[in-house]
Amino acid sequence: MQYKSVKTAVIGCGMISDIYMQNLKEKFSIIDFVGCSDIVSEKSKKQAEKYGVKQMTNEEILNDPEIELVLNLTYPTSHFEVSKAILSAGKHCYSEKLMCLTLDEAKELDKIRKEKNVMFAVAPDTFLGASEQTARLIVERGLIGDVVQIISNRPRGYHLIKTTEDDNYRKFSVMHEGGGIPYDMGGYDLHTLFNIFGPIESVCGFAETRNANRPYLNPRHEKFNENFFVNTENTMCASMKFKSGPLLSFTISSEFNVSGSMLMIMGTEGILHVPDTNNFGDPIYLQKGNGEKMEFPLCHPFRENSRGIGAADMAWALRTGRKPRLSFEMSYHALEVLKAVCDSSKDGTTKHLTTDFEIPKPISTEFYNGTSEERSLFLY
Ligand SMILES: NC(=O)c1ccc[n+]([C@@H]2O[C@H](COP(=O)([O-])OP(=O)(O)OC[C@H]3O[C@@H](n4cnc5c(N)ncnc54)[C@H](O)[C@@H]3O)[C@@H](O)[C@H]2O)c1
Repeated sequence: MQYKSVKTAVIGCGMISDIYMQNLKEKFSIIDFVGCSDIVSEKSKKQAEKYGVKQMTNEEILNDPEIELVLNLTYPTSHFEVSKAILSAGKHCYSEKLMCLTLDEAKELDKIRKEKNVMFAVAPDTFLGASEQTARLIVERGLIGDVVQIISNRPRGYHLIKTTEDDNYRKFSVMHEGGGIPYDMGGYDLHTLFNIFGPIESVCGFAETRNANRPYLNPRHEKFNENFFVNTENTMCASMKFKSGPLLSFTISSEFNVSGSMLMIMGTEGILHVPDTNNFGDPIYLQKGNGEKMEFPLCHPFRENSRGIGAADMAWALRTGRKPRLSFEMSYHALEVLKAVCDSSKDGTTKHLTTDFEIPKPISTEFYNGTSEERSLFLY
């Protein structure tokens, strides 16, 4: 029996749209990618031609009764208005992270998705990939014993080094509200850990905008040496406690000239080194008694860059009548956690989280590659 594919469109044809569109077109048969739009029409024209779909306006997508699922790949300051329009039009929505700028906006989106009875989920979806699913398997099978502590550390370098030409092409959203590194990159490790350990119980910590007034550094920029005001937190250091027990030390900042990532899950019987959670199939290392780090074989499919897998999972959920793995509640929790650290930083108190979510079903370890790896989304 063949399942009817889900007609899907994309709003936002910027940098990340390429890998999404490639995967929507080639990787997931459940998706029928039909059109794309952008407020900058040259961008939607270029992507429509490249991927053989229709160049559309946002309104045309929203008014097309055949389109069931829309991906919101705009930058964070547009997420709320675009997702609101998609949900209000009665369409399922998959948005890039984070969901929106405030918890009030998130509550409004929650209300609309419930009224319209549609699915709404938010990136990252990398935790459905091979490395992070294998990490969960290792923990759940008890290979590192009882998990006591976790360290998540992600240094990066976001600086004003663009030329004027680059700026015209692409807004540097990581310097704007809701786009700073805790929101831009923090969600990757958080979602990976949510998928293993469930929701956070409480947090305390510090969040700041280090060096908020900073000059454009590139002599080719028309504003070279003029100051720019960074309107988002770019440095965060927090302690968190999962309801299920483990303690997490979470540090992230974009104030460096190097990039790196470290996610160590430490159990009574071993240490698990999880690779960059922005990726899908990097090697994973396990450290046991003698201290030697050994590579652990990946046990799941989706080892290649499978961005869009969250949307494909939604499409399979729609056709088979099951829950999608990426839930609204999980993305809302990520937003609540990051906001709680910012609030804790302001008043110096520990914050207790109010939201919860169900840990999603794992991806099957029945491994197929090539085009049949999509079977793992059909299985549930
Ligand atoms: N660039 C990356 O490597 C990367 C990786 C993973 C996730 N993301 C996430 O993906 C999202 C987009 O990132 P990007 O790097 O592609 O940004 P981008 O600035 O390159 O592209 C965003 C696009 O959205 C369009 N847009 C904005 N508001 C719109 C609206 N109301 N209607 C239609 N189009 C609108 C812009 O014109 C732009 O073309 C962000 O949330 C980002 O966090 C980016």
